[in-house]
Amino acid sequence: MDLSSSFHHIPLNDGNSIPVIGLGTYSEPYLTPKGACEKAVKFALDVGYRHIDGAFVYKNEHEVGKAIREKIAEGKLRREDIFYCGKLWVTHLLPKMVYPGLERTLKTLQLDYVDLFIIEMPIAFKPGDDPYPKDENGKYIYHSVDLCATWEALEACKDAGLVKSIGVSNFNRRQLELILSKPGLKYKPVSNQVECHPYFAQPKLLKFCQQHDIVIVAYSPLGTSRNPLWVNVATPALLEDSLLNSLGKKYNKTAAQIVLRFNVQRGVVVIPKSFNPERIQENFQIFDFCISEEDMKAIEALNKNIRFVELLMWSDHPEYPFHDEY
Ligand SMILES: NC(=O)c1ccc[n+]([C@@H]2O[C@H](COP(=O)([O-])OP(=O)(O)OC[C@H]3O[C@@H](n4cnc5c(N)ncnc54)[C@H](OP(=O)(O)O)[C@@H]3O)[C@@H](O)[C@H]2O)c1
Repeated sequence: MDLSSSFHHIPLNDGNSIPVIGLGTYSEPYLTPKGACEKAVKFALDVGYRHIDGAFVYKNEHEVGKAIREKIAEGKLRREDIFYCGKLWVTHLLPKMVYPGLERTLKTLQLDYVDLFIIEMPIAFKPGDDPYPKDENGKYIYHSVDLCATWEALEACKDAGLVKSIGVSNFNRRQLELILSKPGLKYKPVSNQVECHPYFAQPKLLKFCQQHDIVIVAYSPLGTSRNPLWVNVATPALLEDSLLNSLGKKYNKTAAQIVLRFNVQRGVVVIPKSFNPERIQENFQIFDFCISEEDMKAIEALNKNIRFVELLMWSDHPEYPFHDEY
């Protein structure tokens, strides 16, 4: 794979392609000033990012849309230069809710289509507008859906031209196999967005996905923001790892650049989140060096099976994906 160009794309199984690095946009809404996401997306597009990862439930998708539309209006970019990935939330997994879920994203972005739309998680919640429905005892209200029927509704959205490619997120092997073996499957998922970094390198899921032409998109590729509300902070901090820092010195790069390059070099797309201009730029500067085979092996050996994003509050959901080995 030629990774010398920062505009490198990985082909998808439906004939489209995905830029190997995207800007993640999840930022705790209560900690993030209004407009910060818009500024970050604009800065990233100026730096050269062409892929933005977002979601309606991040509560800043309107800022992402504004940034994209303004850059297009400035004449700097065309819509087709930009790759936006949006997500279908767990309250919209009933087939009849899929189109409204996508429409909500398109209206929020004020765009005509998204490049990739993915099922955010395989665990259905009570359908409706409340993204986190709970009963009077404060317990999440789950729902049951046939994920294959959800998938068929997504296929129809692709046929209608509202989304170029369709994929999944947080699916384990069994859940991927369910879709792949669906009778009459029209489109395979192009990608599976999952946590992936040197402490959680996902070798088995990566191999399975590669065998089926499904691209792995690595979320939390830098080891998350370590917010104790949703991150298991009893775990060691990835970017403080001594090997990653010594490799940083060796290659004259930062530990963040080493972990991003590591994934990109093994065919994994990365979507690091930063709303800080220096770090947005830093995370993009991973195309002017190459990690040696020996050092790639040493980074692989760091795999500790440490999942930072466990989503344990939903571990009693029948479709909770992380009970399986992979
Ligand atoms: N599908 C899913 O279920 C799912 C789950 C989680 C995340 N995601 C997606 O994946 C994206 C990335 O994951 P993430 O946000 O969890 O974590 P991440 O990208 O691994 O880490 C983000 C954190 O690292 C900091 N950071 C960024 N660049 C840095 C650098 N060069 N050096 C040191 N620190 C740096 C950021 O702070 P600053 O902003 O201050 O730089 C932020 O606190 C999300 O934004 C979202 O788009 C998807």
